[in-house]
Amino acid sequence: MKTILITGGAGFIGSHVVRLFVNKYPDYQIVNLDKLTYAGNLENLKDIENAPNYIFEKGDIVDESCISQLFDRYQFDGVVHLAAESHVDRSITNPMEFIMTNVVGTVNLLNAARNLWKGKEKGKLFYHVSTDEVYGSLGQTGFFLEDTPYDPQSPYSSSKASSDHFVRAYGNTYSLPYVISNCSNNYGENQFPEKLLPLFINNIRYNKALPVYGDGLFTRDWLYVVDHARAIDLIYHKGKQGDTYNIGGFNEWKNIDLIKLLCKVMDEKLGREQGSAEKLITYVKDRPGHDKRYAIDAGKINKELGWEPSLQFEEGLSKTVDWYLNNQEWLDRVTSGEYQNYYKEQYS
Ligand code: NAD
Ligand code: DAU
Repeated sequence: MKTILITGGAGFIGSHVVRLFVNKYPDYQIVNLDKLTYAGNLENLKDIENAPNYIFEKGDIVDESCISQLFDRYQFDGVVHLAAESHVDRSITNPMEFIMTNVVGTVNLLNAARNLWKGKEKGKLFYHVSTDEVYGSLGQTGFFLEDTPYDPQSPYSSSKASSDHFVRAYGNTYSLPYVISNCSNNYGENQFPEKLLPLFINNIRYNKALPVYGDGLFTRDWLYVVDHARAIDLIYHKGKQGDTYNIGGFNEWKNIDLIKLLCKVMDEKLGREQGSAEKLITYVKDRPGHDKRYAIDAGKINKELGWEPSLQFEEGLSKTVDWYLNNQEWLDRVTSGEYQNYYKEQYS
């Protein structure tokens, strides 16, 4: 029986990774450590919460003694580290929180893994889940490769870049077995509605303005979250130690084109007249330091590990919209309370 720690498992991507590991590997004990910040929600894991190989631990990766006690108790064989502050806009308002969780929290986990595994590193693995934003912003052409120099532009991406550097430094200095992946924009079920797609789905539902930053001509490469979870599983089990893998959807969209497609799909599904949702589009002040374009070259993981996205984007988007419309109570619950204050501050 292997015992694997998954951090941030109550969040968007983490919950999909926990579900995949719990269901696919009955002989693993999966421990989900999550602080349950505004972004963490145990409702995301209702379907597996009673699985015999699943344990939830509420805790903060910034709390050193909590982490070292947890490693003592469970003697983890592996770590899949997803816990993070993940929203760029929030990092602009409150960078220190990002430094604490994303940098200090990651170093706490690295220290605990290093202490536990010292001299018996064989079969152990620290998997650090990172983002394509560490590479900065692209012009109209080109792609991020695994060896593209780091050039983070926001407090969020700087904190993630810093954590990536610490992971590599622990590999280099202390022979800590690690692997890193850098992924593009995820979409799908259970994403907190501060991020573009769930925010706009919720606003269209309530006929609220759709706040498009700047000229709307920013480009992102979208990947269905379950395909990211599949890639993480593959890299965890088959990836080369000490290596980096880029993960992306081969699926670039300018924001405004994506938003118009979403509007069309929502009008159809809500039985509203075509063009209704588009009328809600409102151009607003740009995000400071807004990265123009991200695009991942996912050729390495494709060639070396045989991974590719399983869903066409239009199919994934339709499935995602259906999920939010069928889970309106989920959306209503997560948008009550603190969300209202955040929304007022961010968009007023
Ligand atoms: P999320 O914000 O939905 O979830 C983050 C989770 O981490 C939440 O459950 C939260 O409660 C938990 N958490 C936050 N601070 C914590 C702390 N101090 N201690 C313990 N738990 C804490 O994030 P997400 O979008 O699922 O992203 C997960 C990871 O994937 C992050 O590391 C992010 O940088 C990375 N990533 C995200 C995307 C994306 O498009 N969302 C793309 C590439 C990489
Ligand atoms: O690329 C991977 C990254 O993708 C992850 O590391 C981050 O955790 C994740 O949040 C995401 O970052 P983005 O900043 O690209 O995602 P977001 O959904 O915030 O914004 C997507 C695009 O839409 C971006 O160009 C900004 C724009 N946008 C966003 C919001 C919330 C708007 O125009 N209006 C909005 O209200």
